[in-house]
Amino acid sequence: MDSKEKLKKFWRNKKVFITGHTGFKGSWMSILLNMLGANIYGYSLKPNKKSLFNQANCKYFLEENFYGNINNFNNLKKKLKKTKPNILFHLAAQPLVSKSFSDPLETFQTNIIGTANVLNAIRNIPSLKSIVIITTDKVYKIKNSNRNYKEFNELGGKDPYSVSKVCAEHLTISFIESFYKNKNIRNKISTARSGNVIGGGDYSKNRLLPDIINSINNKKKMIIRNPNSVRPWQHVIEPTLGYLKLAELQYKKKRLHKDQNWNFGPNKKSFVKVIDILKIVKKRYKVKIKIKKNKDFFETNILKLDNNKAKKNLNWRPNWNLQKSIDSVMGWNDEFRKNKNAKKISEHQINNYFNKK
Ligand SMILES: NC(=O)c1ccc[n+]([C@@H]2O[C@H](COP(=O)([O-])OP(=O)(O)OC[C@H]3O[C@@H](n4cnc5c(N)ncnc54)[C@H](O)[C@@H]3O)[C@@H](O)[C@H]2O)c1
Repeated sequence: MDSKEKLKKFWRNKKVFITGHTGFKGSWMSILLNMLGANIYGYSLKPNKKSLFNQANCKYFLEENFYGNINNFNNLKKKLKKTKPNILFHLAAQPLVSKSFSDPLETFQTNIIGTANVLNAIRNIPSLKSIVIITTDKVYKIKNSNRNYKEFNELGGKDPYSVSKVCAEHLTISFIESFYKNKNIRNKISTARSGNVIGGGDYSKNRLLPDIINSINNKKKMIIRNPNSVRPWQHVIEPTLGYLKLAELQYKKKRLHKDQNWNFGPNKKSFVKVIDILKIVKKRYKVKIKIKKNKDFFETNILKLDNNKAKKNLNWRPNWNLQKSIDSVMGWNDEFRKNKNAKKISEHQINNYFNKK
């Protein structure tokens, strides 16, 4: 993996447009890009009051901070024309499987039409030299086996969230083949699929680590829906660095790879059950759990990603094992309760990551 200094050489003064910058992953990406000297332009809905974006005062180090809806094509296009970015990361989405059951239309609207808006809006922005569309590990058609999904495996979803992200994948191919075929930009767009991402400052509902931290902080029993579900757990710094590396090489090379989709999953030892994560946390913290089978919505039982393509082609690899990743999330939370300086805590963890601590 590249050193921070090496990354800085590329990212310094690059104009980077992030949709979804006010979210959990977008905030970590913004903090990291700010450390690397990039000029960041963000386009998202306003963050919740309790959000990493607010806690880390992200809006003060952004070049421009746009609060706008991804479904508003004209506004999005106007902001892109105005800022003339070099690189774009599309993260804006309704990202929760649970919410996709209670509000499928919003999920389809934002994740499908929102992505189509991004892909359409970039058509006449000549400054753009690299675009990464963030989808998910949940895009693969589940074969009920213990396999690790590779990028060329069949796509297919059932729940509304997965289907919306499968559509985002197909839309990306459609735009490349239909509108960019004879243009340089055709080789400059990829989709990126990460695993179950964990990190400090995630306050989403129905995600395991935020639920654990809530139950510790409020001394309440936590409800576990699917204790035996296997997920590819990874710290947010890992896929974020993968997205950055992908964007950089796409920017620099005429054609990075013939297949423009990339997995950024953890190493195999981090494919574990929900209940195994709890066992690790319970070594150091008191967590009371109640197992209540989920009847409101279904989720895939086993999800494993193969990360060899990114390792081989991007000089990217996961550095933190599961224990270290979980310690970092819990440590972030402990530190934040003490000193409230979310930006400093996150930067410190990113520096530790670079220093292999
Ligand atoms: N967190 C994970 O475990 C995980 C795993 C795989 C993929 N992803 C993907 O990564 C991306 C970011 O996820 P996250 O966990 O940071 O989610 P999040 O909910 O914390 O952030 C979502 C971001 O999208 C923005 N957004 C939502 N609807 C919008 C709209 N209509 N218009 C403009 N902006 C809108 C929000 O304002 C926010 O900035 C999503 O695309 C998600 O599907 C997340």
